[in-house]
This record gives sequence, structure tokens and C-alpha cells, in this order.
Amino acid sequence: RKQIFKLSTGSSKLDKLLGGGIESMSITEVFGEFRTGKTQLSHTLCVTAQMPGPNGYIGGKVMFIDTEHTFRPERLRAIAERFNLDQTAVLENILYARAYNSEHQYELLNSVAAKFHEEAGIFKLLIVDSVMALFRVDFSGRGEMADRQQKLGQLMSRLQKISEEYNVAVFVTNQITSDFGAAPADADLQKPVGGNILAHASTTRLALKKGKGRRRVAKIYDSPDLEESEVTFAITSGGIDD
Ligand code: GTP
Ligand code: MG
Repeated sequence: RKQIFKLSTGSSKLDKLLGGGIESMSITEVFGEFRTGKTQLSHTLCVTAQMPGPNGYIGGKVMFIDTEHTFRPERLRAIAERFNLDQTAVLENILYARAYNSEHQYELLNSVAAKFHEEAGIFKLLIVDSVMALFRVDFSGRGEMADRQQKLGQLMSRLQKISEEYNVAVFVTNQITSDFGAAPADADLQKPVGGNILAHASTTRLALKKGKGRRRVAKIYDSPDLEESEVTFAITSGGIDD
């Protein structure tokens, strides 16, 4: 029997907002404008996923799909150090793949599933940072939206299937668009890209915006189960923290 587990974000307040953390057998999406901490949160999860947690969770390996070339081993070293973990061991437990276009991004999931199958029960987290970037490049034409959404739907349903079949947490980052020509700084008018397809595919959607200095503000977006309160967290050299 598969037991659902939750991964810590590195911030206890953010974990609480999420009902305990990033959940396995489901897709969590984080979105927000540039430098809101989406990639830093991805890196922090790469480390916390390797640590023991509540309800007998023992930790495990991570698969990181990078579409924007923002994966930074030196950041992982610093985060590992914060948690007093062996830096080399932490890096060795993260499998990294760079996706070059949206089709490649989808094809990579075959290798991911094969790897998860091969090392059954070992992988606990699959990250896609960012899930929409290549779609936005590959389907940028006016008439290509329907095609993009169809391909996006295929990707998301594959991710959902993988999360359930192998009991892993799937964590994807996303970008925002602003309606009605609103200034990007007006966070309340920011919407994640990906339309209905992404909205339906993501079980939990987390909206990030900038606060003062290193501080960021997180809010649950459009969830029937979780309350819509805000929490703040910090981006530190040791990753996401309170
Ligand atoms: P995009 O991918 O551009 O949309 O942004 P993002 O949301 O992924 O932002 P990212 O996670 O890359 O966050 C960047 C922020 O983290 C910047 O404000 C950096 O200053 C901060 N940051 C990165 N490394 C460190 C660090 O070692 N220490 C601290 N304190 N902040 C850091
Ligand atoms: Mg990023």
C-alpha cells in the first residue's frame, strides 16, 4: 500500500499553509513573477526530500527537469550544509535532466518513469522548473493555442500518472501573465499561464509575490480545501526558511 507523504518547503509557515508540505501522489504548482523564489524553492525541496520526515518518511532521491538552465549545484551544497547533510551525497541523490523543447520535455518522462520503475520506491520527488517555458516558446503563434493546450494536457496527465504510480510528489513551477494590461507588480491581478488545463491538473497552486528584501509572500490559489490566507517566508543562502 502506498502511503502519502509530505515534503517540507524549508519554511514551517509555508508548510502549514500547505497543510503539512508538498504532497506525494499529486501535483503542486508554484507560480509568480521573476525572482519570487520558485527556483529556490525547487532547490530546497531537492534537499528536504532526502531527509526523514513525519509518519515514518525516510527520504529519497529526486529527479529534476530543468527547462531554463537554472539548476545550481552550488546552491544545493549551501542548502545541504544548512541541514547538516553530506553535500556530495545530496548531489548524488539528484538526477538532473535538461529539456530542450516541449516535445523533449514530454519524452523525458519516459526515461523518468523507467528510472522510477527500476529503482522502485527510491524516488520521492519530481521537479519541472519551469513547466510552461518551452511551451511558450514552441507555440508562440496566434493560431497555436489549441495545439499547445492539447500537448500541455498530455504532459500534465502523464505527470499525474507518474505521481500516483510511483508515489512521488510532483512539483512544477510556472510563470504569470497579467490581464487587462495590469502592471506585473499588482500581484492580485497576476494569473498563472497554462489556462484551464494547468488549473485542473494541479492539485495545489501556490502564488508567490515579492515582499521586502529577501521576504516573499505565499498564498494558496483557488483551492476548495485550503484556506486562502497569506504567509511570508525568506530566501536565504540555506534555501527557503521562515
Ligand atoms: P524566475 O525563474 O526568473 O521566474 O524566478 P524565480 O521565481 O525562479 O526566482 P528564484 O527562485 O531564482 O529566486 C531568485 C531570488 O533568490 C533572488 O531574489 C535572489 O537574490 C535570491 N537568492 C538566490 N540565491 C540566494 C542566496 O544564496 N542567498 C539569498 N539570500 N538569496 C538568494
Ligand atoms: Mg526560476
